[in-house]
Amino acid sequence: MRIFLDTANIEEIKKASELGIISGVTTNPSLIAKEGRNFEEIVREITTLVDGPISAEVISTEAGEMVREAEKLAAIHPNITIKIPMLPEGLKAVRTLREKGIKTNVTLIFSANQALLAALAGATYASFFLGRLDDVGHEGVEEVAAAVQIFAQYGLETEIIAASIRHPLHVTQVARLGVDIATVPYQVLMQMFRHPLTDAGIQKFLADWERVKDK
Ligand code: E4P
Repeated sequence: MRIFLDTANIEEIKKASELGIISGVTTNPSLIAKEGRNFEEIVREITTLVDGPISAEVISTEAGEMVREAEKLAAIHPNITIKIPMLPEGLKAVRTLREKGIKTNVTLIFSANQALLAALAGATYASFFLGRLDDVGHEGVEEVAAAVQIFAQYGLETEIIAASIRHPLHVTQVARLGVDIATVPYQVLMQMFRHPLTDAGIQKFLADWERVKDK
């Protein structure tokens, strides 16, 4: 499983990228709004920091307009992947963009059926928002499991991105299911490093070393 960083914050991307464990970045209009800066400028900057797929989202809801926006964004850098909302018009745009050789990431997927439709339209990625499903009392992980099983059964090429990840347990759960990618907020990535026994172990090693280092 690969890990993408789910943020539009340049400092977070720089820090995570230095760790050498992230393979891509996902953004969305809300993450861009949090930064309060020009969208294209942020995307351009991300392409200089990460050598992997970088998702940038269109804001139109009509296929022709989405394709126009997508072409403009895709021209920024070959690593740009176009995030398209899960709508009938969105899937029309996905088909057209596929024919043009532009990669897509269908976003706001909440059911296995939606993921299946995105795959049939030829999406490169299908982004499952599991945390938001949990928020409304559904088992997000179970819905992702259904999609993983369907994709494997039919050999569908679209890669599943587990998105809307809220905590490290989500990452473990989707990794066990065999999702292709988990896109995680910076804070969750940092939480994944931590274990109290690791901290205690380091302290003990350092304290023991102090006792013998000058012998
Ligand atoms: C995915 O690509 C989205 O940017 C993101 O995971 C949404 O997560 P949220 O539910 O925390 O906003």
